Amino acid sequence: MSTVNQATLDVESLSVTLGRHPVLERVSGLSARAGEITALVGPNGAGKSTLLKAIAGLERYHGSVRFDATDLAELDATERARRVYYLPQESGTPAALSVFEAVLLARRTSHPTAGQRDLELVRQTLIMLELEPLAERTLDQLSGGQRQRVAIAQAAVREPRVLMLDEPTSALDLHHQLQVLEWLAAVARQRGIIVLIAIHDLSLAARFAGQLWMLGNGGKVKATGTPRHVLTEDRLREVYAIHAQVEWSDDEPPRVTPLAALTSLGGVKR
Ligand SMILES: Nc1ncnc2c1ncn2[C@@H]1O[C@H](COP(=O)(O)OP(=O)(O)OP(=O)(O)O)[C@@H](O)[C@H]1O
Ligand SMILES: [Mg+2]
Repeated sequence: MSTVNQATLDVESLSVTLGRHPVLERVSGLSARAGEITALVGPNGAGKSTLLKAIAGLERYHGSVRFDATDLAELDATERARRVYYLPQESGTPAALSVFEAVLLARRTSHPTAGQRDLELVRQTLIMLELEPLAERTLDQLSGGQRQRVAIAQAAVREPRVLMLDEPTSALDLHHQLQVLEWLAAVARQRGIIVLIAIHDLSLAARFAGQLWMLGNGGKVKATGTPRHVLTEDRLREVYAIHAQVEWSDDEPPRVTPLAALTSLGGVKR
């Protein structure tokens, strides 16, 4: 069943300074819709993680972040955290909890009044992320990619209205990259929530996201819109300093193939 939800997340004139270094300066015009994945892309150091942390209220900022017509700055930290959840790029040290306990704990932390549905939600989430066979293992007995899928499960069972995942497929094998992104797209659709992910793989971003936000060096918004609009060979040259081939087809998934890294003068690096 798909939930009709017109909620949007809108970022206007957002600035963040870290130390004495302005990382984002008046970032504007970013809008994400409920029901689909929005992918945040851009080179290392562009400010993707900083932007996601600011939206979550974990980094001090100037400007406005509105969700569903509410300025999130008007909410206290608990209220904000109920609506918006950010899973960082690197998760914490593994505890001596089992996979099942760790995911249930994330649920109970965010929904303190225990309900009938909690256990079933945790079980279903483990099944969907292909973690059920590992349910009784402790977190320190998992591989890096398995731990990353547990962290995604923990984020999802919190059921925020805006689910932000920072490079959620960075440690995953090819099967699980596709499987997790397919599942996240279904979660966005079925729950009618905003799923905002930072991701480096542009072919996957083009395939699974409805909208892209592209940041360039210095935290500038380079483009927003559909993958087809944003991902052009000229823009990849400018933003990533690469020569790339971008292919769109009616029958096949979109494909962005990086062909060569360019020097700052536009030549091919040797
Ligand atoms: N505590 C800090 N103090 C000063 N500068 C920082 C701090 N943390 C990060 N930065 C700088 O802020 C910029 C943005 O960092 P951020 O982590 O948001 O980039 P990113 O786009 O997520 O990159 P990546 O793709 O590598 O994850 C970088 O230039 C980084 O060096
Ligand atoms: Mg980052």
